[in-house]
Amino acid sequence: MLRDRFGRTIEYLRLSVTDRCDLRCSYCIPKGFKGFEEPEHWLSFDEIERLVGAFARLGTTRVRLTGGEPLLRRNVAQLAQRIAATDGIRDLSLSTNATQLHRHADALKAAGVSRINVSLDSLDRSCVEKITGWDSFSQIMDGLMAGKAAGFDPIKINMVAMRGINDAEIDDMVAFCIEQNFVLRLIEAMPMGATGRDAAYLDLGPIQARLQTKFGLQPQAAELGGGPARYLSTADGKSSIGFITPMSQHFCATCNRVRLAVDGTLYLCLGQEEKFEFRPLLRGGASDAQLEQAIRHAIELKPQKHEFSERPEKIIRFMAQTGG
Ligand code: 5AD
Ligand code: SF4
Repeated sequence: MLRDRFGRTIEYLRLSVTDRCDLRCSYCIPKGFKGFEEPEHWLSFDEIERLVGAFARLGTTRVRLTGGEPLLRRNVAQLAQRIAATDGIRDLSLSTNATQLHRHADALKAAGVSRINVSLDSLDRSCVEKITGWDSFSQIMDGLMAGKAAGFDPIKINMVAMRGINDAEIDDMVAFCIEQNFVLRLIEAMPMGATGRDAAYLDLGPIQARLQTKFGLQPQAAELGGGPARYLSTADGKSSIGFITPMSQHFCATCNRVRLAVDGTLYLCLGQEEKFEFRPLLRGGASDAQLEQAIRHAIELKPQKHEFSERPEKIIRFMAQTGG
């Protein structure tokens, strides 16, 4: 088991398989950004599989494929299959913007991806265009429905709530997700990079109280997913809505995750600089035992908490560079 200096068990690896994305969500990637890393610095599938195997031997049971947009990595379903087949990995999930999901949904499901999270900040076509940088709404909806048809369960919708941008659409999104049987998660924007800092932050506390009354929601007793979201459910118990509040009510004390970027950098916290480079070890002939020792060492570096509120200017890398 991997335990950090603060007694937290780390059993969840978020794995970025590309830092590229076909969207330019305003809170995430700078407009016109082209400076992504070259593929030769990306870990190969063999290298990823080897590292995931080492994590799994040390108690990692859950892996999520992220990016950038993970479906832009060529043959990502093959990678999913290899990770799903790794001893000790019991849960493989994917975070996607769904623009390419209609092409990959069935293959990913067959490969062993059981659940997906889809980023969708609005149901209004022009609002989606404004946020993502192009008229992507109908392609996203096609992907989302292909995901539903492929049988992913649950499907979670991630909505970054922003004051004056999409906050007027929260209620519509709640109704849509209840109707479609999707789990909506409202997320507070984090000051990651200039894009995240410029996002119109919205405190979700008052929103939660308002939705609770309007939709007759009740606090949900059972945990859903083992992540940081706090969930409310509808009176019939069929639908859940999650609130992810890294800013107004942070959840660092129960953090169970680390993030591997596509170049082999392990980030120990979204909101801190601590990191460990695995690429030199993987390409320098390290043994399995040396890899495991390096992972233990890296986990020792995990900081206690982010400082997004105290030092909002601190993190210059944006979400797609860390792995969402
Ligand atoms: N703050 C909060 N969430 C962000 N995402 C990207 N950038 C930020 C940010 N600055 C979210 C996306 C997606 C997930 C991978 O990360 O909306 O749902
Ligand atoms: Fe792409 Fe997700 Fe970033 Fe939007 S938030 S630009 S979909 S990686």
